[in-house]
Amino acid sequence: MISIFNLEKSPPYEKFQKLYDDAIKLKQPSIEAICISSYSKNLSLVDSRFVNLKYVRENEWIFFSNYNSVKAMQFDEHNQISACMYWHKTDTQIRLKAKIKKSDKNFSDNHYIKREISKNALAHSSNQSKIINSYDDVKNKYAKCLNDENLLIKRPEYWGGYSFVPYQIEFWVGNPNRLNYREMHEMVDESWTKTILEP
Ligand SMILES: Cc1cc2nc3c(=O)[nH]c(=O)nc-3n(C[C@H](O)[C@H](O)[C@H](O)COP(=O)(O)O)c2cc1C
Repeated sequence: MISIFNLEKSPPYEKFQKLYDDAIKLKQPSIEAICISSYSKNLSLVDSRFVNLKYVRENEWIFFSNYNSVKAMQFDEHNQISACMYWHKTDTQIRLKAKIKKSDKNFSDNHYIKREISKNALAHSSNQSKIINSYDDVKNKYAKCLNDENLLIKRPEYWGGYSFVPYQIEFWVGNPNRLNYREMHEMVDESWTKTILEP
């Protein structure tokens, strides 16, 4: 589930809410999975991975990650991302382009304290994306953190939210005979425009 609140009153967000409600009604599994593509300016390469979208607040989309991970380095080098979600229960794709930044520390703290301890222990124990000798080492580091109550009280500085604000959102809904529906919303001069694209 994605926690959606105070959504911007605009055509793309009304559409997003409707498509989300339709997919929830059909019990779409992993509805929060979103693929984020980033760009490494230093290496001149693009990269993608799924994350869990936890909130859509007004016009901000928020997930949580490690601030020392590969993706974090790429967001630092280049603050533009593209992202994509697919909900197979309703044959719906949501595709967007956005600028990304770290969330407020308070927002990350509030999310951290609401999470299960078992998840927070991994936020502490993992140097996400770094090479380690073995998976046993991963498990041992995790077990050590899980038993350290004092450590777990506080969010690690190197873990928190990323928030992105899309300036382009395309909704794609599959139809029979490939007569798929594509609705594009773009921010132009601070207001949303809507166009229909050929399939
Ligand atoms: C469905 C799914 C959800 C995921 N959610 C997250 C997430 O919310 N945050 C995160 O850091 N990694 C998440 N991951 C792991 C990432 O895909 C990725 O392996 C990790 O963030 C390291 O990426 P990086 O090396 O590009 O930084 C998820 C993976 C899957 C398959």
